[in-house]
Amino acid sequence: MTQYVHPGLDISAADIVKSGKPLYPRVPRDSDAASIKVEPDVTPTPVERRNEILAAPGFGKYFTDHLVMATWTREAGWGDARLVGSDSSAGGHAMNALHYGQSIFEGLKAYRQEDGSVWTFRPEANSLRFQRSAYRLALPPVPTDLFIGAIEALVRQDIDWVSDDPEKSLYLRPLEFGAENALGVKPSDKVQFVLIASPVGAYFSGGVKPVKVWISEEFVRAAPGGTGEAKCAGNYAASLLAQQDAAAKGCDQVVWMDALERRYIEEMGGMNLFFVYGFGADARVVTPALTGTLLPGVTRDSLLTLAGDLGYAVEEGKISVDQWREGATSGEITEVFACGTAAVITPVGSVESKNYGSWTMGNGEPGPISMQLRAALVDIQTGHAPDVHNWMHRIS
Ligand SMILES: Cc1ncc(COP(=O)(O)O)c(C=O)c1O
Repeated sequence: MTQYVHPGLDISAADIVKSGKPLYPRVPRDSDAASIKVEPDVTPTPVERRNEILAAPGFGKYFTDHLVMATWTREAGWGDARLVGSDSSAGGHAMNALHYGQSIFEGLKAYRQEDGSVWTFRPEANSLRFQRSAYRLALPPVPTDLFIGAIEALVRQDIDWVSDDPEKSLYLRPLEFGAENALGVKPSDKVQFVLIASPVGAYFSGGVKPVKVWISEEFVRAAPGGTGEAKCAGNYAASLLAQQDAAAKGCDQVVWMDALERRYIEEMGGMNLFFVYGFGADARVVTPALTGTLLPGVTRDSLLTLAGDLGYAVEEGKISVDQWREGATSGEITEVFACGTAAVITPVGSVESKNYGSWTMGNGEPGPISMQLRAALVDIQTGHAPDVHNWMHRIS
């Protein structure tokens, strides 16, 4: 597997400045390294048109006749560097979403029940979150009728892609992005809404298996006032290095702490977290409160309701890493699980960190309340329990 090489970038800019080294030293050039195949366009922009553009170019609206591109693959590294015609729109590569990340998405599923009917779960909730994400990214809100209408149209058209295996479903991915092909840093004047669908099995292969998590002390996901509660592309791009770090430490997922005090648990990778205190009917189910820096999961919201329905005390609060470790060690915290549309509920089996120590949750196996809540939610989604909260939306 090709490893990334980041020459000169193995420490942060702040650390370089502190060390007294030049931030941007001259780098010796190796002219042979850049072998770019030059394949010019045989019909470039006519000279008169180019002169017209050059007389009043504005900013980032027009593009030259050519572009250079190269492709990286994990197997082969960088290659296929070419100069080619840009069809004078730079091939659409000026698109706002690519440069400035004005891009949001959603994730929900369509499920087939035993009688063959197909349903989605709380699509209005995803539509509302999509609208709130749009607000934060200065995108126009997609009307709920269009959002749900698109889901109904696509799922009905591609209904044969919805498996009748209850473990499988059709994952729906609504996407909205700034599609104006121009370089100005401003909200895009052209916006694209797209819905795609993908048949999916269990998110973590091998059924409900507890995960080992890595508490990220070096990186944060979101800071107050930032975009943490929006489902925007940049949040996920910024999470990848920490996820890679977690994998390098032998962990499945990264757990984020708050940005200010670096003490409080926020969420795990692409899932919210729940902490179970105590046992049986006296158990208390606690999840980090929505402080603006974590994603308000639809599964999180649903489980808060279902835990209350099942008679558990339910709380939204603050849990520090120290409280987690001490609670797990003393036995006060009996179960911890993550939740989200993709994997429903995933128990956390063990925790690793650089400075906070390592610990195991219970006996490392899925806890009874985690599994009870999982069953309560899955039973509603599969039609095996009454939909008392009116969460299911019939598509066909
Ligand atoms: C960062 C993050 N947190 C939590 C969640 C869980 O949200 P939901 O339950 O709506 O899938 C997701 C998934 O969308 C996510 O990406």
